[in-house]
Amino acid sequence: MRANVLHRYGGPEQLTVVELPRPVPGPGQILVRAAASAVNPVDIEVRSGQAASRVSHPFPMVLGWDLSGTVVECGDGVTRFAVGDQVVAMSAQMATGVGTHAEYVALDATLAAPAPRGVDLVHAAGLPLAGLTADQALEVLAPAPGSTLLVTGAVGAVGGFAVQLAVDRGLKVLALVRPTDVEAARALGAHEVFTAEHPVPHGVADHLLETAGQPAAVDGVRDGGSAVSIVPTAPPVAERGIDVRMSFVEQDGDRLARLGRLVGESVLTLRTAGVFSLDEVGEAHRRLAAGGSRGKLLVAAE
Ligand SMILES: NC(=O)c1ccc[n+]([C@@H]2O[C@H](COP(=O)([O-])OP(=O)(O)OC[C@H]3O[C@@H](n4cnc5c(N)ncnc54)[C@H](OP(=O)(O)O)[C@@H]3O)[C@@H](O)[C@H]2O)c1
Repeated sequence: MRANVLHRYGGPEQLTVVELPRPVPGPGQILVRAAASAVNPVDIEVRSGQAASRVSHPFPMVLGWDLSGTVVECGDGVTRFAVGDQVVAMSAQMATGVGTHAEYVALDATLAAPAPRGVDLVHAAGLPLAGLTADQALEVLAPAPGSTLLVTGAVGAVGGFAVQLAVDRGLKVLALVRPTDVEAARALGAHEVFTAEHPVPHGVADHLLETAGQPAAVDGVRDGGSAVSIVPTAPPVAERGIDVRMSFVEQDGDRLARLGRLVGESVLTLRTAGVFSLDEVGEAHRRLAAGGSRGKLLVAAE
């Protein structure tokens, strides 16, 4: 099968397509013929070597965490899916070594979920990592219905899902975005939108979900409120009795199934900014690194 692999740490030019043996699903695993994967900031960290201390897999390495596709084979003991099912999945590539920029991916059936209804299978690859990250970070915050949540990077991949999930939970959502993204944040459901020119007032939010690498946004949280960041390189500093935590995405097929149902109900919308081929993963990295992508950058496998 064709797979895009990283041969050594370095620039996007290190990502090239090679032929690899098609994986064989082990017990409890499914083999998925990929429709698409996606690129995420973590892929840039892995490719550049920035995350090398957390990666213990040999080169050549297949990158990619998100997956959408069709089950073509089930390993022993799989009852969750059958051949022909359309699925989405998140594979924690950095920890497991199982990347998704390939024509076929074998992974544990518990990591996968039915693909969202009413959505093109390629675009469904935009859900897993960003959706799970947003949902798990909100779970850490555990905001009461009616409380006020500030989301930074609110039109980003994770931030956009966080805004929509929070609105669905009955929260009042404040968004911090670039000046050009005010309307996009409103379209996602944010009740009030702030920018560098129109800053968040001090202490207006009960909670903060920080996705933009803007730790100073904790200033917008009231005394004794709470903050969760998903950006480990720039954690907010605990002050004024504010509870500050980090959240790191975890594989979870059941949670992903719930998020997929929310997509089917149009509670969550999938935003695609571009679709690249397996040969163009390096180009997708360049585009992601440049910033300004409004929606996921996907990698179609076919
Ligand atoms: N902990 C985890 O498990 C986990 C999981 C997923 C992601 N992450 C991290 O979370 C971050 C967000 O990921 P993502 O995939 O959502 O990235 P993304 O789609 O690029 O979203 C980040 C958003 O923040 C915006 N932003 C950056 N600086 C800003 C500022 N000063 N003011 C307002 N908005 C600003 C960006 O705008 P521009 O594009 O214009 O810069 C973008 O819209 C990344 O650092 C990623 O590494 C962590």
